[in-house]
Amino acid sequence: MFFDFEALQARNRYKLLTATITPRPIAWIVSLNDEGAPNAAPFSFFNVVCADPATICLGIGSHADGREKDTLANIRANGEFVVNLVSEADAEAMNITAAPFAPGTNELLEAGVSTAPASRIKPPRIASSPVSLECKAVEVVDLSEKNHLVIASILGMHVADHAIKNPERYWIDTAKLELVGRMESPGWYVRTRDRFMMKVPEAGGQTPGGV
Ligand SMILES: Cc1cc2nc3c(=O)[nH]c(=O)nc-3n(C[C@H](O)[C@H](O)[C@H](O)COP(=O)(O)O)c2cc1C
Repeated sequence: MFFDFEALQARNRYKLLTATITPRPIAWIVSLNDEGAPNAAPFSFFNVVCADPATICLGIGSHADGREKDTLANIRANGEFVVNLVSEADAEAMNITAAPFAPGTNELLEAGVSTAPASRIKPPRIASSPVSLECKAVEVVDLSEKNHLVIASILGMHVADHAIKNPERYWIDTAKLELVGRMESPGWYVRTRDRFMMKVPEAGGQTPGGV
């Protein structure tokens, strides 16, 4: 069956996209408002774009009532935020921070989450997160009145010690991060335990380049 996106309502395009482009990594974002109060919320329209320069992208929509999300308002105001990746142990707390709290609510307190200082930026990181990326926005592209693309540089990364295999070689034991991903609505997730390995075959005796 072919779905013609030009003929579909946005909410139906959303259903098709989020039920198929899976699993999506979850950026559990901590940002600060003008008064320095922390805000936390998860975003799964998220991925890394490239490593040189180290760059991520995020898709942030509006709240159902049309209000701009606090995360986006904070990023527009000061550009700094931490992307915390979500482990199985943190999944429930992450979900609590997605509730549409009033602006200025500290979702971290609501979810009982502790923070630790970041190294290069003001917003704190989530202490229990196995990976935290300290980010600085490069550009916010307004795709429509309701949807916005944030492009940001990664200034540095915290990785939990237990998941570091060899620091000199920058080898991470990814399985030990026990990350979760977002699947289809409403509320489906996936663990990242079912892994398999495949090497790219050599073609004509040449070693393929890594991507
Ligand atoms: C796992 C998960 C992923 C989400 N991904 C997105 C997303 O990519 N973009 C978005 O606009 N909202 C997303 N949301 C909804 C926001 O987290 C939610 O609207 C939140 O209240 C925004 O908070 P804020 O106003 O404090 O920024 C997601 C929610 C969950 C539970």
